[in-house]
Amino acid sequence: MKKLTITRPDDWHLHVRTGAILKIVMPHTARQFARAIIMPNLKPPVTTVAQALAYREEILQAVPAGLDFSPLMTLYLTGATTADEIRKAAECEHVQAFKLYPAGATTHSDAGISDVKAAYPLLEAMEKNDVPLLIHGEVTDEACDIFDRERVFVDTSLTEIVRNFPELRIVVEHVTTTEAVQFVQSAGARIAATITPQHLMFNRNALLAGGIRPHHYCLPIIKREHHRQALVAAATSGNSKFFLGTDSAPHLTSLKEAACGCAGCYSAHAALELYAEVFEQAGALDKLEGFASFHGADFYRLPRNSGTITLEKTVWKVPAAYGADSASVTPLKANEELTWQIAQ
Ligand code: DOR
Ligand code: ZN
Repeated sequence: MKKLTITRPDDWHLHVRTGAILKIVMPHTARQFARAIIMPNLKPPVTTVAQALAYREEILQAVPAGLDFSPLMTLYLTGATTADEIRKAAECEHVQAFKLYPAGATTHSDAGISDVKAAYPLLEAMEKNDVPLLIHGEVTDEACDIFDRERVFVDTSLTEIVRNFPELRIVVEHVTTTEAVQFVQSAGARIAATITPQHLMFNRNALLAGGIRPHHYCLPIIKREHHRQALVAAATSGNSKFFLGTDSAPHLTSLKEAACGCAGCYSAHAALELYAEVFEQAGALDKLEGFASFHGADFYRLPRNSGTITLEKTVWKVPAAYGADSASVTPLKANEELTWQIAQ
């Protein structure tokens, strides 16, 4: 196949930050996606509808003229979140969901939830108001091996949350393991998952073999090959429970290439092109449109997009960096070739 036209897609899990990084990354997302679920893990976190609306304005300012892009805002769930704020979120057309970070799980998650059970009254309020809950599914127990943190979260916290809140819509964000995939597949229709490009493309050798590669370091950490294969099978299966969420998480290059580097892969520069490579290799390009453009919109009960986007089979080289020397971001696959490109 030389050309592929699909309905304009959405990114159901995206970090765009603020300030200089926001200005670098926003054009990349807006040229591909009509909408994106914007993560609230700023410093300080976005915890109220008022903050989300202000952040939304800042994001819109960074969208290049002529591109039509809608940020779908989320609020950061903390121990101090109130049932009243959940009701306000439910009533606000620009806010779609709450994000639950276990405290300490990842970048800027210290304001997160340290005791999921103590947050049950809030989950009950979300269930009652029909606001989806987006979960970073990893335990934070220091004694738990980093490669096991998602599986243990599924076995312990997630199973209980799903059982206790039978009407709550939940997205298990950026699934990385066979166990999480199987959990989502066997749960009811209100449980879904996003899958990132890096977890579809790489196993943990890409992080650690032959040298440490900080631009492949993200959380949840990249796992063994059999997990990657389970993710590819889920994403390309046509099952509507799985949809596109890049978890594109830009950090300054200087903070990634450091003795203690930040977690996060910058993938938004070529998100759709990266997914297209994976789907083509799996012989499933015909399943890309459902994954990228339909399943997420249906889950969030939003209309599917009406425009289209065309990918062409053209080899191109990903730049070494985006931005200026003072603020530069290294993209996933920097200096490497990709075989699909969005048609101009
Ligand atoms: O690798 C990650 N980076 N995982 C997350 O959950 C957060 C993200 C970030 O915000 O940098
Ligand atoms: Zn994320």
